[in-house]
Amino acid sequence: MGSVARQPLQGQRPAQGLALSSRATHIAPAPRRSAGPARRGRYSAVAMGLHWAIASLLLTNLALGFFGASLDGADKLFVISGIHKPIGMTVLVLSIARAIWRLLHRPPPYSAAVGPLQRRVAGAVHGLLYGLMIGLPISGWWMSSALPARHAFTYFGLFPLPFLPVPQAMWIAVAADQVHMTLGWAVVCAIALHVTAALKHQFFDRDDVMARMAFWMADRNA
Ligand code: HEM
Repeated sequence: MGSVARQPLQGQRPAQGLALSSRATHIAPAPRRSAGPARRGRYSAVAMGLHWAIASLLLTNLALGFFGASLDGADKLFVISGIHKPIGMTVLVLSIARAIWRLLHRPPPYSAAVGPLQRRVAGAVHGLLYGLMIGLPISGWWMSSALPARHAFTYFGLFPLPFLPVPQAMWIAVAADQVHMTLGWAVVCAIALHVTAALKHQFFDRDDVMARMAFWMADRNA
């Protein structure tokens, strides 16, 4: 167990929703539900599982998107319609599930080593990532649905995937393509920022921020 283990955890709330202050006894509002491990300063298994599943699928799909865009004909159809689109739909469903989970479950409190400015910046970048994780696949879905001649696509050949009920016109599909590309580059920048911050915490500050999300690392607050 590291030294962080004995530091007070800022933002930590009483588990039962009842708080006794030194001046008066009052009933504090019950906190949102928080899984056991999160109370000790770590994300829950569900949050970690969704984080790493979405991270690996999204990074794979970014590479497939940029690679597929450089291809032509049958190769392009195979990479974009056969792999990139179903992975994108998976990212969309998992990201919506994760956003709902996040709204219902309070994240673990930071240790005192993480200052208020860092917490605010992290919150802003996380909010941006949630928006991009959902907005990026929707913009691709919109582009495919707006094409005058739509290419039917399936979920890895298992079942057909629907199109969005949007107007079909080439200029709309081109505009949606621009949005999709812009969001793609925005997610690259946001991930670069996010990963750099995580590595800085791990190797420079040597605090417990990485261990909050990394199930393979020891829980320093346990
Ligand atoms: C190697 C890549 C990655 C590493 C090392 C990493 C690391 C982390 C860590 C340590 C946290 C917890 C930070 C904290 O509590 O302040 C976190 C949270 C988060 N990560 Fe990542 N991450 C990676 C990739 C990604 C990717 C690709 C995405 C999505 C595009 C992503 C989205 C998020 C979000 C939205 C949160 C906030 C969780 C919440 O509080 O709801 N991460 N990540």
